Amino acid sequence: MSEPTKPAETTAASPAGTAGTATAAAPSATPPAVPPPAKPPVKKPGADRRFFLFTWMGIAWTTFCASMAAMALGTVRFMFPNVLAEPPSSFKAGVPGGYEPGQVVERYKQEQGVWLVREGNTIFALSTICTHLGCTPNWLENEQKFKCPCHGSGFYKNGINFEGPAPRPLERFKISIADDGQLLVDKSKKFQHELGEWGSPDASVQV
Ligand code: FES
Repeated sequence: MSEPTKPAETTAASPAGTAGTATAAAPSATPPAVPPPAKPPVKKPGADRRFFLFTWMGIAWTTFCASMAAMALGTVRFMFPNVLAEPPSSFKAGVPGGYEPGQVVERYKQEQGVWLVREGNTIFALSTICTHLGCTPNWLENEQKFKCPCHGSGFYKNGINFEGPAPRPLERFKISIADDGQLLVDKSKKFQHELGEWGSPDASVQV
């Protein structure tokens, strides 16, 4: 009695180029799989709040540093005070022989605030500041007086007040003869009539 043939062995022994080839080629015919869309980055919890915090801290620090730098600059600037270049208080006003008797010289009014006046043989330097509230009077040649435009005070040629609200005469400055023979006016020294100072030898020059 002969043994029956095993069907499993027959299938396994079949040639590779027939049924086995068809079975292996089937998967390669399918299209490539489309990759899934990228997921959006997941924000860490609290990231927005940290960003907000850091931004405002940066602004606050920048402002603080800028104000500290400004304060430091101000302190340094304070250590170097302004130096005012004031004009010298003395000036020369020509030789006495250049002044006519009775003359009021206005040449130094604008620049120095001084009238040079010759009365007889005496020359003196009058301040151009009104003794009421500090305006600058005008010399009126025809009326032979100084007249203040602010409130109407009037002064004689010698500086004595005679009308208006001015409470006292104009002031005089120190005047002398310099080494070169010119008149030298020193505005750092004043003489007031009401204090009896006009009689000082430095309050006038004799020609
Ligand atoms: S300021 Fe000269 S009269 Fe008042």
